[in-house]
Amino acid sequence: MSVRGAFGELANRDQLWPFLMPARGARVDVSKQVLLYIEDLSVSFDGFKAINNLNLYINDGELRCLIGANGAGKTTLMDIITGKTHPDTGAVYFGQNIDLLGRSEAEIAELGIGRKFQKPTVFEAQTVYANLELSMRAEKGIMASLGSRLTGEKRDRIDQVLATIGLSDERALAAGALSHGQKQWLEIGMLLIADPRLLLVDEPVAGMTAQETERTAELLTSLAGERTVVVVEHDMEFVRSIARTVTVLHQGSVLAEGTMEQVQNDPKVIEVYLGDEH
Ligand SMILES: Nc1ncnc2c1ncn2[C@@H]1O[C@H](COP(=O)(O)OP(=O)(O)OP(=O)(O)O)[C@@H](O)[C@H]1O
Ligand SMILES: [Mg+2]
Repeated sequence: MSVRGAFGELANRDQLWPFLMPARGARVDVSKQVLLYIEDLSVSFDGFKAINNLNLYINDGELRCLIGANGAGKTTLMDIITGKTHPDTGAVYFGQNIDLLGRSEAEIAELGIGRKFQKPTVFEAQTVYANLELSMRAEKGIMASLGSRLTGEKRDRIDQVLATIGLSDERALAAGALSHGQKQWLEIGMLLIADPRLLLVDEPVAGMTAQETERTAELLTSLAGERTVVVVEHDMEFVRSIARTVTVLHQGSVLAEGTMEQVQNDPKVIEVYLGDEH
């Protein structure tokens, strides 16, 4: 049977278009200003509740910091949002309309959710520029790699990202020659190539110098607004320097939420978390 014949009954464009539309084109409904809805979320590992009835709402364009002691469930939450871990119960919505549960990691990435793990995973032997080029290829898939030369538009995009992450002068260096902080920025750049709507960043400043930490604060602050950024971090100076709203996780639930000042003065928080520092 010819292809046309096989799809004969579906050949009407109006019927086909939802299947042909790239996921990236899916419109995220943020008419209520909320980009990420997490409701009644729970997941257990061998009977241990890593996430326990968690409710969290992230507004579109926000820069949100998630803090909490080791094992509070911060990384597990990112694993669930990105489709790496499946929760036992609860709901996760991207905008009001896109149910993220049941979607694969690749589908979730294509919807515009980028995630940075703690350890940088750049291609050390490749130049900074080539790393960005590679993530662009990965992003566009096989079709793009058929035309092996970068178009002007793609080069502009890479130049723009290089400027954003402050590595324009290092473009020709092997990524392996970068400092730890620069590698982290490069990896953020590799995510930015895909132009994500939501960026999840797990412990970005761990191991950075004070100066690199400061520049990372500037970078993440500059990304918010146009994008939504969720940052997990233990470095309280850093959190204080960037956060408008801080969410404190404790034993898989939200313990407190508010400005840094509000959560710092919250007796519950002082008792279970910040109290450790004093
Ligand atoms: N895949 C898994 N299998 C079993 N237990 C897990 C798994 N993932 C996480 N856990 C457990 O769930 C709890 C929450 O872990 P998680 O990594 O989310 O904490 P965290 O808040 O990111 O901590 P940290 O600040 O140390 O990174 C921990 O007790 C951890 O051991
Ligand atoms: Mg973690």
